[in-house]
Amino acid sequence: MMDFRTDREKQLMKEAEAVVQRHSQVVKADPNRLTYHLMPPVGLLNDPNGLIYYKGVYHVFFQWNPFATEHGAKFWGHYTTTDLVTWKLEPIALAPSEWFEKNGCYSGSAIEKDGEMFLFYTGNVKDENNNRETFQCVAVSNDGFSFQKKGPVVTLPECYTAHFRDPKVWEKNGKWYMVVGAQSLHGEGEVALFSSLDLENWKFHGSIAGSKMNGLDEFGYMWECPDLFSLDGADVLIVSPQGLNADGFLYNNLYQSGYFIGKLDEIEATYEHGSFTELDRGFDFYAPQTMLDDEGRRILIGWMGVPEENEEDHPTIQHQWIHCMTLPRKLELKEGKLYQTPVEELKKLRKEQSLNEKIEVCSDKVQLPSVKGAAIELVIQDIQGEFESFEISFGDACRFVYDANERLATLERKRFKEDSFESRTCKLDSLESLQIYKDTSSIELFLNEGQEVFSARVFGTVDDQSIAFAADGGGRFKLSIWCLSSSTIKR
Ligand code: FRU
Repeated sequence: MMDFRTDREKQLMKEAEAVVQRHSQVVKADPNRLTYHLMPPVGLLNDPNGLIYYKGVYHVFFQWNPFATEHGAKFWGHYTTTDLVTWKLEPIALAPSEWFEKNGCYSGSAIEKDGEMFLFYTGNVKDENNNRETFQCVAVSNDGFSFQKKGPVVTLPECYTAHFRDPKVWEKNGKWYMVVGAQSLHGEGEVALFSSLDLENWKFHGSIAGSKMNGLDEFGYMWECPDLFSLDGADVLIVSPQGLNADGFLYNNLYQSGYFIGKLDEIEATYEHGSFTELDRGFDFYAPQTMLDDEGRRILIGWMGVPEENEEDHPTIQHQWIHCMTLPRKLELKEGKLYQTPVEELKKLRKEQSLNEKIEVCSDKVQLPSVKGAAIELVIQDIQGEFESFEISFGDACRFVYDANERLATLERKRFKEDSFESRTCKLDSLESLQIYKDTSSIELFLNEGQEVFSARVFGTVDDQSIAFAADGGGRFKLSIWCLSSSTIKR
């Protein structure tokens, strides 16, 4: 493969590699370092980018600032896997070296055409007064590892501000389509649609969805990271709107990520859709992206973080890194709702089963014999009983409670800084099962086979995996616990 990189790009990559080396011991020494989740080798990771199954390999790129645990001029870091369990950190894919991306190779997507991989991403440019410019750029590769930058292919349409980014590209009936997250000149979050026959010349079709469009009220000042795909007969639009006000239990994080179910008419450039549903009910979830694999699965990975939400309070920044990805989840549409389940392959993480029995609990806490290791999976099935509430706690760092009277599911966690708790809640008609992935400093709960999901970072559970159950009014369930293998991420 020819090396198309400019000197500046090579230099930036070298500097990033050097900082990885420089901090590797400090990073490794962090007890909060996760064991089976994707993290940055150093610095800050945010959005998953360029998710693609290409030539037998899954590629997951990521927004990465190697030089600080803050946001900045982003690189595209790169992980690959063939089984969605064992990952390899690859050489950097993109560094922000050229004029059209000098302040960051921002988020984007990947497609395959004639055996080549094309990355579409946002070139972020700022001048000395912080004025923004945005270019939607392309980089091409014939192996999926080294990329030739082709520069901008889409410039900013007049009807948007420079908050215009995160191109997601797909193919349908021989034509290419692109959605881009946008802000109208009136300050409304929108999604712009483009089409192309050759991936180079793109035609702008206007906005297909957004705040005050298609029956929505005011719905945010910026929509980031759109992803539009067909699933089980519907067209799903995933998007991360900014500027929604909290509404009861809804929209409690600083920024949201969710989806619409609808019908896209590419020819008319219209998208009719229903209401917005949050994808994840936890504290830490944003900017997810999906890919289709060779088995026809629609797989989603999200960033287990939210921009600007207490990022400076994460204890990991003392160890020179911050944030991680969620586990890969398979999407399915059931009765108009997206269900998310951890991909089957994750069962390969199961090392030894430390428990498999029927448990009866009442209002007194039942403390399980302590489980070895910080990486565990719990499967709680066949939940029965006349309980008014059902709870499971992990040390004193986090607790899940289902209130059967109010039909509410709640996750509580200890705040990062203070010793108090914060909570997130969603409606849930009944609690039938729970699948929980606990890692050193994260938790993901899948309720009722993926009907609802809670993702959160939790600190303070590394040495304290004491798990306890209680059910006010009495409850029974079948419980399986596995210790999970670590070091599934190779360099
Ligand atoms: C979402 C986001 C994107 C942008 C990227 C920059 O978290 O703000 O809109 O492309 O992060 O890192």
